[in-house]
This record gives sequence, C-alpha cells and structure tokens, in this order.
Amino acid sequence: MAPRVWRIGLIGFGNVGQGFIRILVNKGSKLRERYGFEFKVVGIADPIKGSVFDPEGLDIVKVIELVDKYGNIKDYPGGRKDIDSLYLCRSDSVDIVVEVTPTNVKTGEPGLTHIREALKNGKHVVTSNKGPIALAYPELKALADEKGVLLRFEGVVLSGTPAINLALEALAGTDISRVRGIVNGTTNFILTKMEEGMTYEDALKEAQRLGYAEADPTADVEGWDAAVKAVIIANVLMGGSITINDVEREGITKVTLDDVRKAKEEGCRIKLIAEVVKGDEGIKASVKPRKVPLTDPLANVMGAINALTFETDHLGPVTIVGPGAGRVETGQAILTDVLAIHRYAGGR
Ligand code: HSE
Repeated sequence: MAPRVWRIGLIGFGNVGQGFIRILVNKGSKLRERYGFEFKVVGIADPIKGSVFDPEGLDIVKVIELVDKYGNIKDYPGGRKDIDSLYLCRSDSVDIVVEVTPTNVKTGEPGLTHIREALKNGKHVVTSNKGPIALAYPELKALADEKGVLLRFEGVVLSGTPAINLALEALAGTDISRVRGIVNGTTNFILTKMEEGMTYEDALKEAQRLGYAEADPTADVEGWDAAVKAVIIANVLMGGSITINDVEREGITKVTLDDVRKAKEEGCRIKLIAEVVKGDEGIKASVKPRKVPLTDPLANVMGAINALTFETDHLGPVTIVGPGAGRVETGQAILTDVLAIHRYAGGR
C-alpha cells in the first residue's frame, strides 16, 4: 500500500542534498499539482552540516535559510538532533532514503552501509553515490528485489541528464555494444577554461566553487571519477563485471596549456574520453585525454556539459548531451528518481 504522503530521509547535505531540497522548496506545489506527489522531508543527517529529525516533517524553507546563512542546520528550531544516518535508514517514519554522501571508490562507504541498511529495512533508495553502485550493484539490486522496494541512481552518470534511466528504461530491449563520451564535468570545465587562457589551478578552483568537483577533486583530475562511471556503464548497462582496476586510466594533470594550444592549431581539442567496449573477449574500459578533431561532435561539448553515445543493435548510435555535474543538476537526478518511485510504487 503506497503512503499518502512520501516521507523522505536525506543522508548527506552537501552540494547534491542542498540542490535537491532547493528544488523541493521551489517546485513542491507544482509537483503536487502535476503529479499528485505529496511529500515531507522528515530528517536530514550530515556529520558536518548537522542532523535533525521530525516525523511531522521539517520546514525545508527554514532549512535552506539556515544553510545559506550559517553553512549548517545545527540551529534548526525543534526536531530531534540526536539522530544519525543509520537512524534514518531504520526509522518507521521514513519511506524513501535519499543517499547523497561523497563517493568513495575503494570502499563505497559510508554510502554502501546506508543503502544496505535502508533496503534491509524496506525503504526505497535513491542515490547519486557512485561507489556503492560500482562496487556492489548486483548485491544491492538483489536485496531491493527481495524486499520489494526500488533502488534508483540516475545521478551516478551525467548528473540529471538521463543516461542511466535512458539506457535501463527507454532503451530496454536493445543490446549496447559500445559507450563513448565525456563523463566528468570538472575536467571538461577545466579543459574548456584552459583553452580560454585560464590556468589549471584557477579553473579547478572555479569548478569547486560551482559545485562540480568531488569532495576530493583529485578523483576528478586523475580520472577516478570517470573510471568509476565507466565501471557502472560496463556492469549495470552492459552486463559486465569489471572493477575500477580493470579500467585503463589517465587523468588530465599532465595536460599543459601548451598541449591545449597545440591541439587547437591542429584543428582538435583535448577531451577526457571514457570508452567501454563489449567484444568477444569481454568488456574493455578506458579513460584517457585524447585529441578529438573539431569535426567530432564530442569536441564541441564544452564546460560542465557531458555527452554519451550508446551504440545499440536496434537503433545504432543514440547520443545524449547535457549537464554532467552541479548542485541543481544532480538534485534533478534525485527528483526524477523520487518521482519514478511515486509512479511505480505509488500506484500512479
Ligand atoms: N565530480 C563529478 C564531475 C560530479 O565533475 O563530473 C558528477 O558526478
């Protein structure tokens, strides 16, 4: 039986969590009108920004006011402050756990424990956390199926630009043999700014300010973030079972302003290209800076915009282009998944 009002527990209140709550503040009444989507955010848990729980629902306008003014929500008036992330995973007052803590590509933690615990307790889960999906998707999917709940993760590749749901839902029934594109917003933004003459360091700082970069931006510039996305593409969308160590990986830290300029003189642009190919010998994945001729559409994907081409048997190439990072952009990924849960599990 679907709840009359969806009760959301939010774990992680950084860029993505705040982006999602801002969307709910701005669009809440439209979502009610358009989709009959009734919701309450009953809890937020973040070890740095603060934690608060109220089964009657938090005042999300107040939450955003506080984080804008003080950078945290520790002075939220009312509610219980003695709760943590696991409390939200177990509480009877939560229907959907939104897990948006930072990605750890080695252990998947703390997200992996949060997602496992929430699914075990019969909660639907929406996440933009790449670690748990790359490391443990088959286990988590089996657990969700066993419990009869949904696990959704549009935000793990191309933020709110629908890459995951496009491949899993809209392209259902096709076989995907190759996926190629630009999957990291931070590095594409840095390469774009370097072409405009900005230094690498300044461009990275700007990418951090705009909320594109990972909590530890070396994950972006060394290619780990793109590599973990390649693993997700391989394993979740193409039936593979590779690990991040199987991805041939090189980041952009060795790319100089001079390299960028020279490539331009040759009618090319340097892009960090991710590629996953399914062949007779299994799946091969790579992430590397490559000189792309300006005639290739990927060369004209600039800033934090990303692009992916899926080579399919029934349709040939299908390409999607759109934002690959950002607060509101990833907040949109969370929203679309929450609305999908409303549609599929809410009987609508
Ligand atoms: N740091 C990531 C990027 C965020 O720049 O693409 C989105 O996964």
